[in-house]
Amino acid sequence: MNINRNAKIYVAGHRGMVGSAIVRELQAQGFTNIVIRTHSELDLCNQQAVSYFFQQEKPEQVYLAAAKVGGIHANNTYPAEFIYDNLMIEANVIHQAFKVGVKKLLFLGSSCIYPKLAEQPMSEETLLTGKLEATNEPYAIAKIAGIKLCESYNRQYGESHKIDYRSVMPSNLYGPEDNYHPVNSHVIPALIRRFHEAKINHSSEVVIWGSGTPMREFLYVDDMAAASIFVMNLDKRIYDQHTESMQSHINVGFGSDLSIKELAENIGHVVGYQGKITFDLTKPDGTPKKLMSSHRIGKMGWRPKVSLIDGIKITYQDFLK
Ligand SMILES: NC(=O)c1ccc[n+]([C@@H]2O[C@H](COP(=O)([O-])OP(=O)(O)OC[C@H]3O[C@@H](n4cnc5c(N)ncnc54)[C@H](OP(=O)(O)O)[C@@H]3O)[C@@H](O)[C@H]2O)c1
Repeated sequence: MNINRNAKIYVAGHRGMVGSAIVRELQAQGFTNIVIRTHSELDLCNQQAVSYFFQQEKPEQVYLAAAKVGGIHANNTYPAEFIYDNLMIEANVIHQAFKVGVKKLLFLGSSCIYPKLAEQPMSEETLLTGKLEATNEPYAIAKIAGIKLCESYNRQYGESHKIDYRSVMPSNLYGPEDNYHPVNSHVIPALIRRFHEAKINHSSEVVIWGSGTPMREFLYVDDMAAASIFVMNLDKRIYDQHTESMQSHINVGFGSDLSIKELAENIGHVVGYQGKITFDLTKPDGTPKKLMSSHRIGKMGWRPKVSLIDGIKITYQDFLK
């Protein structure tokens, strides 16, 4: 693989959890020419501003990790913002990148693109085979549009303009720069906060919502960043061997799941919490299992490196900062 480490690379969303991990990993791998803009410097929903930025900077590669992201509550409360912002960000970035001659682009989607009742583990082939989960359907539709934008530009301009725009679908991510908000955060940062506060306050128990039996998959964000750089630089022959032109996205997961109960025990252990863990069975469990098939990226030659326990240890240190 011939990788140009001096190529000018724009990382969109570099202040986010994933974008910041991609910048860290690019720097660690010796990439020297990284272009960034904060949200206030460049609103990616603004077509004119995005056009001007690309004309000025003319990057050679783009990692598209900027998105309007949130949990069930935010998705349910602001569905218009979730579909509009994400469609605009993708359309503006992908189209303006194409217009200035960007050859390689990586779009980050999400596992919520798959049907609510998709067979487990969810493989890339299940895309558009059934109804989506209603709560985040607008967000998922925008993410599916992002995949289809990449594929359509490849189909129309791949040969003539030598462009290669790819997509990766991360499973649940966690790690430094996560959002530790008590209500509005994902399960790992939320539990880290709750176990930490329980330890400090000498609480005798931590109550977990639901039965603790749902099975979930978690990937450490630096592994996701490494996978993103891996897919971006993967030889086109190998990429084409494992994908199809209208089914080109690649799942990136840890490859196995664990129960919420096991997850809580692991976090309690890392935090040093000595009390009891109990379960509030009056609260809903959600879907019993959500695991992505990472078979495709495995066959391409990528594996995650960071175990859940090591990832939680690093994330807890980040929380304490
Ligand atoms: N975190 C996960 O578990 C997870 C799982 C699957 C997929 N993903 C995907 O990974 C990508 C990144 O997620 P993340 O967790 O890193 O999200 P994040 O921490 O919220 O970061 C998103 C970044 O995008 C920026 N942004 C949003 N709207 C913008 C706009 N209009 N103009 C310019 N910048 C804008 C945000 O800036 P402001 O904060 O200033 O608005 C933020 O820095 C998303 O596509 C997401 O779907 C994440």
